[in-house]
Amino acid sequence: MGNKQSTQTRRQRTNYYGGMFLFDENEIDRVQIQHHFARESWNGNFSSPVKDVLRTDEATVLDVGCGAGTFLCEMAADFPKAHYFGVDLLPTCPNTLPHNVKFIQRDVLKGLPFADNTFDFVYVRFLVLDLPEFEWEKVIKECSRVLKPNGWIEMMEPRFGLTNKGPMSEKIVGAIQARARSRNVDPHIVDKLGGFLSSMKCLKPINSEMRVVPCGSWGGKKGQLGAMFLRDVIKKHLRFIDNILNIRQSDYENVLNIFSQEIEFYHSHFEFYRYFAQKY
Ligand SMILES: C[S@@+](CC[C@H](N)C(=O)[O-])C[C@H]1O[C@@H](n2cnc3c(N)ncnc32)[C@H](O)[C@@H]1O
Repeated sequence: MGNKQSTQTRRQRTNYYGGMFLFDENEIDRVQIQHHFARESWNGNFSSPVKDVLRTDEATVLDVGCGAGTFLCEMAADFPKAHYFGVDLLPTCPNTLPHNVKFIQRDVLKGLPFADNTFDFVYVRFLVLDLPEFEWEKVIKECSRVLKPNGWIEMMEPRFGLTNKGPMSEKIVGAIQARARSRNVDPHIVDKLGGFLSSMKCLKPINSEMRVVPCGSWGGKKGQLGAMFLRDVIKKHLRFIDNILNIRQSDYENVLNIFSQEIEFYHSHFEFYRYFAQKY
């Protein structure tokens, strides 16, 4: 009963967000898939050299736009001495979290509710379709402010697009990109993240890594996860682009199946980036 009520409350409280980030059980499944896809793509949850500090009991970690808190909960199991904080615009985290994980509902664009120099590690991922281009520098500046000297910031985002596309995939990806641009969101923001990080004079050096992500079982386990990730992102966006694609809700499943067939046939893939830098 209690759980039902909290789910309902959560739905009511999140409906205001233009429908775009409506947080329901399907969305929670989606972020879990996203998390496993990310970890498998890189064979690990992060690239910054923070393992030693995370083994100490003074270590503090912040995840900005943490969603369901999947990253934080797994980190809390891997490095149980550290203290974890997640911030999200919406009440996205489960009510029950590990004792060393705290969730705070907050719009990062209004500033992070932490003092300067608080965290050893600040982590940001999968905000590519959420943040308008002109807000990224502000977010990075705020993350740098709350980072301790010698602390690390890490950002991980796909270059939202697809190489080797079939005709349906071309239409779908094009429509999502067009919708993003109409909201001042740059689906290729990864091309600018290195520049934004460099413009914070306190961060150095700026490291970057790239992985080509296969989409489809032709790419083995990583390809299967890549396909699940992209299919889920598309599924979430279909209701916003069905007018551009000239389809109805009853066509969604068919469109997704054509997409899945095309990525196998054309060996579709996309690029996935990590940027990480130290504050001095
Ligand atoms: C695609 S989800 C990614 C969630 C999480 N980073 C992950 O990897 O699973 C994007 C998240 O960013 C949050 N978000 C979007 N704009 C935000 C803002 N201005 N401040 C805080 N969180 C925001 C959304 O509510 C959503 O939970």
